[in-house]
Amino acid sequence: MLVSAKEMLDKAKAGKYAVGQFNINNLEWTKAILLTAQENNSPVILGVSEGAGKYMCGYNTVVGMVNGMLETLKITVPVALHLDHGSYEGAKACIEAGFSSIMFDGSHYPIEENIAKTTELIGIAHAKGISVEAEVGAIGGEEDGVIGGGEVADPKECKMIADLGVDMLAAGIGNIHGKYPANWKGLNFDVLAEIQKLTGTMPLVLHGGTGIPADMIKEAISLGVSKINVNTECQLSFADATRKYIEAGKDLEGKGFDPRKLLAPGFEAIKATVKEKMELFGSIDKA
Ligand code: 13P
Repeated sequence: MLVSAKEMLDKAKAGKYAVGQFNINNLEWTKAILLTAQENNSPVILGVSEGAGKYMCGYNTVVGMVNGMLETLKITVPVALHLDHGSYEGAKACIEAGFSSIMFDGSHYPIEENIAKTTELIGIAHAKGISVEAEVGAIGGEEDGVIGGGEVADPKECKMIADLGVDMLAAGIGNIHGKYPANWKGLNFDVLAEIQKLTGTMPLVLHGGTGIPADMIKEAISLGVSKINVNTECQLSFADATRKYIEAGKDLEGKGFDPRKLLAPGFEAIKATVKEKMELFGSIDKA
């Protein structure tokens, strides 16, 4: 059964580790992430962007697929199904469809409007036991059409949003979706420390997990980050393994063109990337 992300993240914050949010794109992605979580006894969050939700034929299809897998694969570790960078309408649709967690990304609204909309969504979500993530500042780069300017969050605004009763807070601290440019300045730990000081036990979320060096990840966790989002890295691993299979001409050998064979190396590559991240984040054996 899907669970809200609240309990697993409160535990992670207290235990000084982070739970990975891995974005899903299709059946292979979902199965690979769920099996890796189960094999490593780790809690996990499945992230669904609005674009990926549309691609997978809508939120009802996603909920049906994930619930079906939880049962058939006998998944017993805590799993949250979470809307990533949701709009106000998208958040409401996911609450209706049976998601167990939502992110409302109101970071592009003036702070008053972000507060008003976040407050309303918290009321609707919490009445159904669904956890809520809010965002202050902006994550740089582009994810599935959501473009952020990379503004570093104002810790006082973070406190205002945290006080509304959100379950987790994403703050822009110089992180970027997608690959980091060679001249990237790194995460702003001074701002993160200030946010943590003002928001106390609130689990903080680090978006743009792809390509952040291990030492920065560890420092971010020590400063209160309890959820780390990874998307691009699984896509790169999948693409790389699939390219190697095709380039080696394996699709032309025997029945190598069978999609179950063609997609298998990418599937295994996603599993390896997810496991590596779970080890780095410290969530193994924390289910
Ligand atoms: P990356 O694609 O950079 O891993 O970021 C994922 C993310 O933050 C999803 O919200």
